Amino acid sequence: MTIPHRLTEFADDLTAIRRDLHAHPELGFQEVRTSGIVAGLLESWGLEVTRGLGKTGVVGVLKGTRPGRTIGLRADMDALPIDERTNLPYASKTPGVMHACGHDAHTAMLLGAARYLSETRDFAGTAVFIFQPAEEGLGGARAMIADGLFDRFPCDEIYGMHNAPHHPMGEIGIKPGPAMAGANFFDITITGKGAHAASPDMGIDSIVIAASLVQQLQSIVSRNVKASDQAVLSVTQIHAGAAYNVLPEVATLAGTVRYFDRATAEAIIARMQALCDGAAKAYGVEVVLDMRNVFDVLENDATLSQAMLDAARALVGEAAQERAERVMGSEDFADMLRAVPGAYCTVGTGGGIPLHNPGFVFDDAALPLGAALYVRMVETRGGV
Ligand code: NI
Repeated sequence: MTIPHRLTEFADDLTAIRRDLHAHPELGFQEVRTSGIVAGLLESWGLEVTRGLGKTGVVGVLKGTRPGRTIGLRADMDALPIDERTNLPYASKTPGVMHACGHDAHTAMLLGAARYLSETRDFAGTAVFIFQPAEEGLGGARAMIADGLFDRFPCDEIYGMHNAPHHPMGEIGIKPGPAMAGANFFDITITGKGAHAASPDMGIDSIVIAASLVQQLQSIVSRNVKASDQAVLSVTQIHAGAAYNVLPEVATLAGTVRYFDRATAEAIIARMQALCDGAAKAYGVEVVLDMRNVFDVLENDATLSQAMLDAARALVGEAAQERAERVMGSEDFADMLRAVPGAYCTVGTGGGIPLHNPGFVFDDAALPLGAALYVRMVETRGGV
Protein backbone atom coordinates (compact mmCIF):
# COMPACT_ATOMS: atom_id res chain seq x y z
CA MET A 1 0.00 0.00 0.00
CA THR A 2 1.37 3.42 -0.97
CA ILE A 3 -0.02 6.02 1.43
CA PRO A 4 1.43 9.57 1.44
CA HIS A 5 3.86 9.75 4.36
CA ARG A 6 2.25 12.79 5.99
CA LEU A 7 -1.11 10.96 6.12
CA THR A 8 0.45 8.07 8.01
CA GLU A 9 2.00 10.59 10.41
CA PHE A 10 -1.38 11.74 11.64
CA ALA A 11 -3.12 8.36 11.38
CA ASP A 12 -3.36 8.26 15.19
CA ASP A 13 -5.26 11.55 15.16
CA LEU A 14 -7.73 10.10 12.67
CA THR A 15 -8.19 7.04 14.88
CA ALA A 16 -8.84 9.30 17.88
CA ILE A 17 -11.41 11.32 15.93
CA ARG A 18 -13.09 8.17 14.66
CA ARG A 19 -13.29 6.57 18.11
CA ASP A 20 -14.67 9.76 19.64
CA LEU A 21 -17.40 9.88 16.97
CA HIS A 22 -18.00 6.18 17.53
CA ALA A 23 -18.55 6.70 21.26
CA HIS A 24 -21.03 9.51 20.54
CA PRO A 25 -23.17 8.32 17.62
CA GLU A 26 -26.10 10.41 16.41
CA LEU A 27 -29.07 9.41 14.25
CA GLY A 28 -29.91 11.05 10.92
CA PHE A 29 -30.55 14.81 11.02
CA GLN A 30 -29.51 14.80 14.68
CA GLU A 31 -25.75 14.94 13.99
CA VAL A 32 -25.32 18.16 15.97
CA ARG A 33 -22.25 17.15 17.96
CA THR A 34 -20.69 15.34 15.01
CA SER A 35 -21.17 18.18 12.54
CA GLY A 36 -19.92 20.65 15.15
CA ILE A 37 -16.69 18.68 15.51
CA VAL A 38 -16.33 18.38 11.73
CA ALA A 39 -16.92 22.10 11.14
CA GLY A 40 -14.53 23.06 13.95
CA LEU A 41 -11.71 20.89 12.59
CA LEU A 42 -12.19 22.13 9.02
CA GLU A 43 -12.06 25.74 10.26
CA SER A 44 -8.94 25.01 12.27
CA TRP A 45 -7.27 23.84 9.05
CA GLY A 46 -8.22 27.05 7.25
CA LEU A 47 -11.12 25.78 5.14
CA GLU A 48 -14.11 27.95 4.32
CA VAL A 49 -16.95 26.23 6.20
CA THR A 50 -20.71 26.28 5.74
CA ARG A 51 -22.79 24.70 8.50
CA GLY A 52 -26.40 23.63 8.59
CA LEU A 53 -26.80 22.67 4.93
CA GLY A 54 -29.57 20.05 4.80
CA LYS A 55 -30.14 20.62 8.51
CA THR A 56 -26.96 19.09 9.97
CA GLY A 57 -24.74 18.88 6.87
CA VAL A 58 -21.38 20.63 6.63
CA VAL A 59 -19.42 21.77 3.58
CA GLY A 60 -15.77 22.77 3.59
CA VAL A 61 -14.08 24.43 0.63
CA LEU A 62 -10.35 24.44 -0.04
CA LYS A 63 -8.64 26.05 -3.01
CA GLY A 64 -5.48 24.62 -4.52
CA THR A 65 -2.48 26.65 -5.58
CA ARG A 66 -3.30 26.43 -9.29
CA PRO A 67 -6.50 27.11 -11.23
CA GLY A 68 -8.52 24.05 -12.13
CA ARG A 69 -11.75 22.19 -11.71
CA THR A 70 -13.92 21.61 -8.65
CA ILE A 71 -13.91 18.14 -7.16
CA GLY A 72 -16.53 17.18 -4.58
CA LEU A 73 -15.84 14.50 -1.96
CA ARG A 74 -18.61 13.16 0.20
CA ALA A 75 -18.82 11.30 3.52
CA ASP A 76 -21.90 10.42 5.56
CA MET A 77 -22.10 11.08 9.31
CA ASP A 78 -25.18 9.35 10.74
CA ALA A 79 -25.46 6.30 12.99
CA LEU A 80 -28.14 3.58 13.26
CA PRO A 81 -30.81 2.72 15.83
CA ILE A 82 -28.91 -0.37 17.02
CA ASP A 83 -27.80 -1.29 20.54
CA GLU A 84 -24.03 -1.81 20.31
CA ARG A 85 -22.65 -5.13 21.52
CA THR A 86 -18.90 -4.96 20.97
CA ASN A 87 -17.41 -4.35 24.44
CA LEU A 88 -14.98 -1.91 22.85
CA PRO A 89 -13.51 0.67 25.22
CA TYR A 90 -14.93 3.35 22.90
CA ALA A 91 -18.30 1.65 22.38
CA SER A 92 -21.39 3.83 22.00
CA LYS A 93 -22.28 5.78 25.12
CA THR A 94 -25.77 6.34 23.72
CA PRO A 95 -28.03 3.33 24.32
CA GLY A 96 -29.84 2.20 21.20
CA VAL A 97 -27.63 4.18 18.81
CA MET A 98 -24.52 2.82 17.13
CA HIS A 99 -22.13 3.56 14.28
CA ALA A 100 -22.76 0.10 12.84
CA CYS A 101 -22.23 1.18 9.22
CA GLY A 102 -18.86 2.83 9.70
CA HIS A 103 -20.00 6.34 8.85
CA ASP A 104 -17.80 7.48 11.74
CA ALA A 105 -14.89 6.10 9.69
CA HIS A 106 -16.05 7.77 6.46
CA THR A 107 -16.20 11.08 8.33
CA ALA A 108 -12.70 10.59 9.78
CA MET A 109 -11.32 9.61 6.35
CA LEU A 110 -12.70 12.74 4.71
CA LEU A 111 -11.39 14.86 7.58
CA GLY A 112 -7.99 13.26 7.02
CA ALA A 113 -8.10 14.25 3.35
CA ALA A 114 -9.08 17.81 4.26
CA ARG A 115 -6.22 18.12 6.73
CA TYR A 116 -3.66 16.67 4.33
CA LEU A 117 -4.73 18.87 1.41
CA SER A 118 -4.88 21.96 3.64
CA GLU A 119 -1.24 21.32 4.56
CA THR A 120 0.04 20.53 1.08
CA ARG A 121 -2.24 22.67 -1.11
CA ASP A 122 -0.41 20.91 -3.91
CA PHE A 123 -3.36 20.60 -6.27
CA ALA A 124 -5.16 22.44 -9.03
CA GLY A 125 -8.71 23.65 -8.67
CA THR A 126 -10.98 23.47 -5.66
CA ALA A 127 -11.88 20.67 -3.29
CA VAL A 128 -15.39 20.63 -1.82
CA PHE A 129 -15.71 18.43 1.27
CA ILE A 130 -19.32 17.34 1.74
CA PHE A 131 -20.25 15.91 5.15
CA GLN A 132 -23.75 14.58 4.68
CA PRO A 133 -26.35 13.81 7.36
CA ALA A 134 -28.97 11.08 7.40
CA GLU A 135 -27.80 8.55 4.80
CA GLU A 136 -29.68 5.64 6.41
CA GLY A 137 -32.98 6.01 4.57
CA LEU A 138 -33.86 9.50 5.76
CA GLY A 139 -32.85 11.41 2.64
CA GLY A 140 -29.83 13.41 3.81
CA ALA A 141 -28.39 13.71 0.30
CA ARG A 142 -31.69 15.02 -1.06
CA ALA A 143 -31.95 17.45 1.86
CA MET A 144 -28.53 18.91 1.07
CA ILE A 145 -29.30 19.13 -2.66
CA ALA A 146 -32.67 20.80 -1.93
CA ASP A 147 -30.79 23.23 0.31
CA GLY A 148 -28.70 24.30 -2.69
CA LEU A 149 -25.60 22.12 -2.25
CA PHE A 150 -24.61 22.12 -5.92
CA ASP A 151 -25.93 25.63 -6.62
CA ARG A 152 -23.80 27.11 -3.87
CA PHE A 153 -20.89 24.73 -4.43
CA PRO A 154 -20.99 23.70 -8.11
CA CYS A 155 -18.83 20.61 -8.60
CA ASP A 156 -17.46 19.21 -11.85
CA GLU A 157 -17.13 15.72 -10.40
CA ILE A 158 -17.96 14.03 -7.10
CA TYR A 159 -16.64 10.94 -5.37
CA GLY A 160 -17.76 8.82 -2.46
CA MET A 161 -16.91 5.51 -0.84
CA HIS A 162 -18.10 2.94 1.66
CA ASN A 163 -16.15 0.61 3.91
CA ALA A 164 -16.61 -3.10 3.13
CA PRO A 165 -15.89 -5.48 6.04
CA HIS A 166 -16.69 -8.48 3.81
CA HIS A 167 -13.74 -7.62 1.56
CA PRO A 168 -10.09 -7.95 2.61
CA MET A 169 -8.30 -4.88 3.93
CA GLY A 170 -7.22 -2.63 1.07
CA GLU A 171 -9.31 -4.25 -1.65
CA ILE A 172 -11.03 -1.48 -3.57
CA GLY A 173 -13.94 -2.23 -5.91
CA ILE A 174 -15.81 -0.11 -8.44
CA LYS A 175 -18.72 -1.11 -10.65
CA PRO A 176 -19.07 1.29 -13.61
CA GLY A 177 -22.63 2.12 -14.67
CA PRO A 178 -25.62 1.14 -12.53
CA ALA A 179 -23.99 -0.23 -9.36
CA MET A 180 -26.52 -0.12 -6.55
CA ALA A 181 -30.29 -0.53 -6.64
CA GLY A 182 -32.93 2.15 -6.37
CA ALA A 183 -35.22 1.67 -3.40
CA ASN A 184 -38.78 2.42 -2.40
CA PHE A 185 -40.20 1.96 1.09
CA PHE A 186 -43.87 1.10 1.47
CA ASP A 187 -46.58 0.83 4.11
CA ILE A 188 -49.84 -1.04 3.64
CA THR A 189 -52.71 -0.39 6.06
CA ILE A 190 -55.55 -2.91 6.13
CA THR A 191 -58.60 -1.69 8.01
CA GLY A 192 -61.00 -4.53 8.72
CA LYS A 193 -63.61 -4.76 11.43
CA GLY A 194 -62.63 -5.60 14.99
CA ALA A 195 -64.49 -8.36 16.81
CA HIS A 196 -64.28 -10.92 19.61
CA ALA A 197 -61.90 -13.69 18.60
CA ALA A 198 -64.59 -16.22 19.47
CA SER A 199 -66.95 -14.67 16.93
CA PRO A 200 -64.90 -13.95 13.80
CA ASP A 201 -68.12 -13.90 11.77
CA MET A 202 -69.00 -10.62 13.52
CA GLY A 203 -65.92 -8.88 12.17
CA ILE A 204 -63.53 -8.81 9.21
CA ASP A 205 -60.20 -10.24 10.26
CA SER A 206 -57.38 -7.92 9.18
CA ILE A 207 -54.75 -10.55 10.11
CA VAL A 208 -56.00 -13.14 7.63
CA ILE A 209 -56.01 -10.50 4.90
CA ALA A 210 -52.48 -9.39 5.83
CA ALA A 211 -51.19 -12.96 5.73
CA SER A 212 -52.77 -13.56 2.34
CA LEU A 213 -51.48 -10.26 0.98
CA VAL A 214 -47.87 -11.09 1.99
CA GLN A 215 -48.10 -14.28 -0.05
CA GLN A 216 -49.63 -12.51 -3.03
CA LEU A 217 -46.98 -9.78 -2.99
CA GLN A 218 -44.32 -12.47 -3.26
CA SER A 219 -45.75 -13.49 -6.61
CA ILE A 220 -44.83 -10.15 -8.20
CA VAL A 221 -41.06 -10.51 -8.61
CA SER A 222 -41.30 -14.23 -9.38
CA ARG A 223 -44.24 -14.01 -11.82
CA ASN A 224 -44.49 -10.46 -13.16
CA VAL A 225 -40.87 -9.27 -13.47
CA LYS A 226 -38.85 -10.42 -16.44
CA ALA A 227 -36.41 -13.09 -15.27
CA SER A 228 -33.46 -11.24 -16.82
CA ASP A 229 -34.30 -8.09 -14.87
CA GLN A 230 -33.28 -7.69 -11.23
CA ALA A 231 -35.72 -6.67 -8.50
CA VAL A 232 -36.54 -7.48 -4.89
CA LEU A 233 -39.74 -7.06 -2.95
CA SER A 234 -39.38 -7.71 0.78
CA VAL A 235 -42.11 -7.39 3.40
CA THR A 236 -40.14 -6.54 6.53
CA GLN A 237 -42.84 -5.67 9.06
CA ILE A 238 -46.25 -7.04 10.07
CA HIS A 239 -48.06 -5.34 12.91
CA ALA A 240 -51.46 -6.25 14.29
CA GLY A 241 -53.12 -7.18 17.51
CA ALA A 242 -52.43 -6.90 21.22
CA ALA A 243 -54.61 -9.56 22.85
CA TYR A 244 -55.41 -13.29 22.72
CA ASN A 245 -59.12 -12.80 22.31
CA VAL A 246 -59.45 -9.78 20.05
CA LEU A 247 -59.45 -9.74 16.26
CA PRO A 248 -57.61 -6.48 15.54
CA GLU A 249 -59.34 -3.98 13.32
CA VAL A 250 -56.10 -2.79 11.70
CA ALA A 251 -53.11 -4.69 10.36
CA THR A 252 -50.13 -2.98 8.75
CA LEU A 253 -47.40 -4.30 6.49
CA ALA A 254 -44.23 -2.49 5.54
CA GLY A 255 -41.22 -3.24 3.40
CA THR A 256 -39.03 -2.29 0.49
CA VAL A 257 -38.81 -2.64 -3.28
CA ARG A 258 -35.37 -2.66 -4.95
CA TYR A 259 -34.81 -2.19 -8.67
CA PHE A 260 -32.42 -1.05 -11.37
CA ASP A 261 -34.96 -0.04 -14.00
CA ARG A 262 -37.53 2.64 -13.20
CA ALA A 263 -40.04 1.02 -15.57
CA THR A 264 -39.70 -2.23 -13.61
CA ALA A 265 -40.26 -0.34 -10.36
CA GLU A 266 -43.38 1.28 -11.81
CA ALA A 267 -44.70 -2.12 -12.95
CA ILE A 268 -44.09 -3.63 -9.50
CA ILE A 269 -45.85 -0.74 -7.79
CA ALA A 270 -48.82 -0.98 -10.15
CA ARG A 271 -49.08 -4.70 -9.44
CA MET A 272 -48.88 -4.08 -5.67
CA GLN A 273 -51.69 -1.55 -5.98
CA ALA A 274 -53.79 -4.03 -7.95
CA LEU A 275 -53.30 -6.72 -5.28
CA CYS A 276 -54.19 -4.26 -2.51
CA ASP A 277 -57.29 -3.14 -4.42
CA GLY A 278 -58.19 -6.77 -5.07
CA ALA A 279 -57.92 -7.65 -1.37
CA ALA A 280 -60.03 -4.63 -0.49
CA LYS A 281 -62.72 -5.72 -2.91
CA ALA A 282 -62.58 -9.41 -2.03
CA TYR A 283 -62.81 -8.88 1.73
CA GLY A 284 -64.84 -5.68 1.84
CA VAL A 285 -62.16 -3.70 3.68
CA GLU A 286 -60.02 -0.64 3.11
CA VAL A 287 -56.45 -1.33 2.00
CA VAL A 288 -54.19 1.70 1.58
CA LEU A 289 -50.78 1.44 -0.08
CA ASP A 290 -48.33 4.23 0.72
CA MET A 291 -45.25 4.10 -1.54
CA ARG A 292 -42.21 6.37 -1.22
CA ASN A 293 -39.06 6.49 -3.33
CA VAL A 294 -36.10 6.71 -0.97
CA PHE A 295 -33.00 6.04 -3.06
CA ASP A 296 -32.26 6.45 -6.74
CA VAL A 297 -30.32 3.84 -8.66
CA LEU A 298 -26.64 4.58 -8.03
CA GLU A 299 -25.01 5.09 -11.39
CA ASN A 300 -21.25 5.45 -11.70
CA ASP A 301 -19.98 7.45 -14.66
CA ALA A 302 -17.91 5.08 -16.81
CA THR A 303 -14.99 7.47 -17.42
CA LEU A 304 -14.86 8.69 -13.82
CA SER A 305 -15.09 5.13 -12.51
CA GLN A 306 -11.92 4.47 -14.46
CA ALA A 307 -10.36 7.63 -12.99
CA MET A 308 -11.20 6.42 -9.49
CA LEU A 309 -9.91 2.95 -10.29
CA ASP A 310 -6.64 4.48 -11.53
CA ALA A 311 -6.35 6.51 -8.34
CA ALA A 312 -7.04 3.39 -6.26
CA ARG A 313 -4.46 1.38 -8.24
CA ALA A 314 -1.82 3.97 -7.42
CA LEU A 315 -2.51 3.23 -3.74
CA VAL A 316 -3.16 -0.51 -3.59
CA GLY A 317 -2.09 -1.83 -6.98
CA GLU A 318 -3.99 -4.84 -8.27
CA ALA A 319 -6.11 -4.94 -5.09
CA ALA A 320 -8.18 -2.28 -6.85
CA GLN A 321 -10.51 -4.00 -9.28
CA GLU A 322 -13.49 -3.27 -11.43
CA ARG A 323 -16.47 -5.27 -10.14
CA ALA A 324 -18.80 -7.07 -12.49
CA GLU A 325 -21.68 -7.47 -10.11
CA ARG A 326 -24.15 -4.77 -9.14
CA VAL A 327 -25.70 -5.01 -5.68
CA MET A 328 -29.32 -4.78 -4.50
CA GLY A 329 -28.31 -2.58 -1.55
CA SER A 330 -28.93 1.15 -1.87
CA GLU A 331 -27.03 4.32 -1.05
CA ASP A 332 -28.24 7.89 -1.15
CA PHE A 333 -25.03 9.16 -2.77
CA ALA A 334 -27.03 8.04 -5.82
CA ASP A 335 -28.96 11.31 -5.61
CA MET A 336 -25.75 13.34 -5.70
CA LEU A 337 -24.54 11.30 -8.69
CA ARG A 338 -27.77 12.26 -10.49
CA ALA A 339 -26.82 15.91 -10.07
CA VAL A 340 -23.07 15.66 -10.74
CA PRO A 341 -21.14 12.91 -12.54
CA GLY A 342 -18.79 10.89 -10.41
CA ALA A 343 -18.08 7.50 -8.92
CA TYR A 344 -18.53 5.52 -5.74
CA CYS A 345 -16.39 2.64 -4.59
CA THR A 346 -16.06 0.16 -1.75
CA VAL A 347 -12.92 0.05 0.36
CA GLY A 348 -12.25 -3.36 1.87
CA THR A 349 -11.66 -3.13 5.60
CA GLY A 350 -11.73 -6.80 6.62
CA GLY A 351 -13.06 -8.15 9.88
CA GLY A 352 -16.01 -9.95 8.38
CA ILE A 353 -18.72 -8.86 10.84
CA PRO A 354 -21.39 -7.38 8.58
CA LEU A 355 -22.46 -3.75 8.44
CA HIS A 356 -25.59 -2.99 10.50
CA ASN A 357 -24.67 -5.79 12.94
CA PRO A 358 -24.55 -4.88 16.68
CA GLY A 359 -21.09 -6.48 16.83
CA PHE A 360 -19.65 -4.53 13.88
CA VAL A 361 -16.06 -3.38 14.48
CA PHE A 362 -14.21 -1.08 12.11
CA ASP A 363 -10.45 -1.54 11.66
CA ASP A 364 -8.84 1.89 12.02
CA ALA A 365 -5.91 0.74 9.88
CA ALA A 366 -8.10 1.60 6.87
CA LEU A 367 -8.49 5.28 7.78
CA PRO A 368 -5.30 6.55 6.02
CA LEU A 369 -6.19 4.53 2.91
CA GLY A 370 -9.66 6.07 2.66
CA ALA A 371 -8.20 9.53 3.24
CA ALA A 372 -5.51 8.89 0.63
CA LEU A 373 -8.06 7.88 -1.98
CA TYR A 374 -10.06 11.07 -1.43
CA VAL A 375 -6.80 13.06 -1.63
CA ARG A 376 -5.81 11.39 -4.88
CA MET A 377 -9.13 12.17 -6.52
CA VAL A 378 -8.49 15.88 -5.92
CA GLU A 379 -4.84 15.72 -6.92
CA THR A 380 -5.51 13.79 -10.12
CA ARG A 381 -8.82 15.32 -11.24
CA GLY A 382 -8.55 18.99 -10.22
CA GLY A 383 -6.14 19.77 -13.04
CA VAL A 384 -7.57 17.60 -15.81
NI1 NI B 1 -23.50 3.03 5.26
